[in-house]
Amino acid sequence: MPASYAKYLAEVLIDEAALQERIAQLGQQINRDYADCEDLLLLCILKGGVMFLTDLSRHIEVPHMIDFMAASSYGIGARKTAGSVRIDMDLKMDVRGKHVLVVEDIIDSGHTLAFVLKTIQNRQPASLRLCALLNKQSRREVALDVDYIGFEIENKFVFGYGLDLDERFRNLPFVAVANPAALTDE
Ligand code: IMP
Ligand code: MG
Repeated sequence: MPASYAKYLAEVLIDEAALQERIAQLGQQINRDYADCEDLLLLCILKGGVMFLTDLSRHIEVPHMIDFMAASSYGIGARKTAGSVRIDMDLKMDVRGKHVLVVEDIIDSGHTLAFVLKTIQNRQPASLRLCALLNKQSRREVALDVDYIGFEIENKFVFGYGLDLDERFRNLPFVAVANPAALTDE
């Protein structure tokens, strides 16, 4: 039986082995950068960041905490960003004095993360850095300093490995480019 996602898939952009290899490298880099850190908090942005967080976290040997925050940007059509961002679920922990590393699936326009970073910064963490698995630099509308990037990708809609296609297929172990003909624009 063909996979349920087959008709939406144009190509596999980053396969499982390449993802896992790069995530291991990011983990090593984070281990070096936070070597003596005692209050590291990985802040996962839901829902897209969850696969990346769980794999990345297992490569991080520095003792660390985990928390979650959900934010959404909304505009005209589900796949476009108009620049309005809302916190749907705040994190439980107090970030004051902690070294916060935000873990996100993808940076597109940058509006979501700019808002999240401003919100966290106002709560006075000891430090605040950003780790994104995927970066669509060509789509950026607001300047962002991204400290750790897994992969630079082109301006194509992707899904899998946390990223959804209308809330589906987040479970795929690879990142795929969506077939534009199969995308509906609500
Ligand atoms: P931004 O605010 O434009 O940077 O949007 C970032 C959010 O849009 C991400 O956290 C994703 O949830 C979503 N997003 C952006 N591009 C894609 C994509 O290609 N596939 C799936 N979700 C995406
Ligand atoms: Mg999404």
